[in-house]
Amino acid sequence: MKVYLDNSATTPMDPEVFEAMKPYFLENYGNPSSIHSHGRQARSTIEKCRKKISDLLNTSPAEIFFTSGGTEADNTAICSSIESLGINTAITSKLEHHAVLHTLEYLAKERKVELKYVDVDQDGRVDMEHLASLLQKNPSFVSLMHANNEIGNLNDIQAIGDLVKANDGYFHSDTVQALGKYEHDLSALKADFIVGAAHKIYGPKGCGFLYINHETKIEPFIHGGAQERNMRGGTENVAGIVGLAKAMEISYRDMDKNRQHISSLKERMLIGLKKKISGATFNGLSGSMDESLYSVINVGLPATDENDMLLFNLDIRGISASGGSACASGSNIGSHVLTALGVDPERGAIRFSFSKYTKPEEVDYAVDALAELMN
Ligand SMILES: Cc1ncc(COP(=O)(O)O)c(C=O)c1O
Repeated sequence: MKVYLDNSATTPMDPEVFEAMKPYFLENYGNPSSIHSHGRQARSTIEKCRKKISDLLNTSPAEIFFTSGGTEADNTAICSSIESLGINTAITSKLEHHAVLHTLEYLAKERKVELKYVDVDQDGRVDMEHLASLLQKNPSFVSLMHANNEIGNLNDIQAIGDLVKANDGYFHSDTVQALGKYEHDLSALKADFIVGAAHKIYGPKGCGFLYINHETKIEPFIHGGAQERNMRGGTENVAGIVGLAKAMEISYRDMDKNRQHISSLKERMLIGLKKKISGATFNGLSGSMDESLYSVINVGLPATDENDMLLFNLDIRGISASGGSACASGSNIGSHVLTALGVDPERGAIRFSFSKYTKPEEVDYAVDALAELMN
């Protein structure tokens, strides 16, 4: 049996998305910058996709910029803001994705910004009072994600945005893991930037977007041609953009149905793991149905000599999952998120993440396989 439970890393492509993209490889291959009919057709397709995405997010097409994915969108928001907006302090948390953390750490090393980390509690909840105290120094750039990719923790980005704006700061939220799973109403959310990646929502790899609030003016991150209204040089990934827009459309269309299905899988696995593995814990808030992404469980496992081999042993049984323990002292191999939460590096940790295609029997198979390895 082959069981894919690593959907936070990437999702399989929805065949509907694939069908929508196909003509843009084989027939409608014009360069959107060309002025002839092939080019005009590609340009018009891109603009329709932009409109579709902006409608779903309740914003305007002029605020959506296509990128090569989440990492580029995060880099653009962060690097260009710090370059263009006269920012001297950046605030983030140690639980962010490396696309954010490594970018900010690089800028701090280059002395372009002073970097501060907001405190989180032992389960990874952001300390809002500490954030408020850090924000006193203006102007600040705050980067805090919506949903954590390793432990699923959900941040209240509405409240964070309100707090940042009350202190005249700028707010970037890495929404890669939450996009398409929860609605984002950008007319109400006080964010300057959010980002998305198609491959997390059953779309293609290598395509994403950056939302930039129209009041926030930044310089391009990638220089080149005049594409994306001079904000992002490079010939557009037309088929990818079509796939991204289709994937978003389907995610919004089927959101309630998918949420119900995937939540029931998570509940099933939580119950199964608790029942069959003594000493199993749930890292961060991933054991909670309300405070974490409904598609992710990060299970903590008692220390054994075999823990290093857990993912390998699951793989041998046909199960693809990911994760890894906290970093042992003096090493940076392992999870920076679990390390920041103070999780014992001797304990095993595995992230299981589900998709709309995951079946209950696949969840049961994985629980039984893990139980067999642990007992
Ligand atoms: C929270 C988060 N941010 C950013 C990224 C990077 O996105 P991409 O793979 O599209 O560059 C990922 C992907 O793992 C992610 O989970």
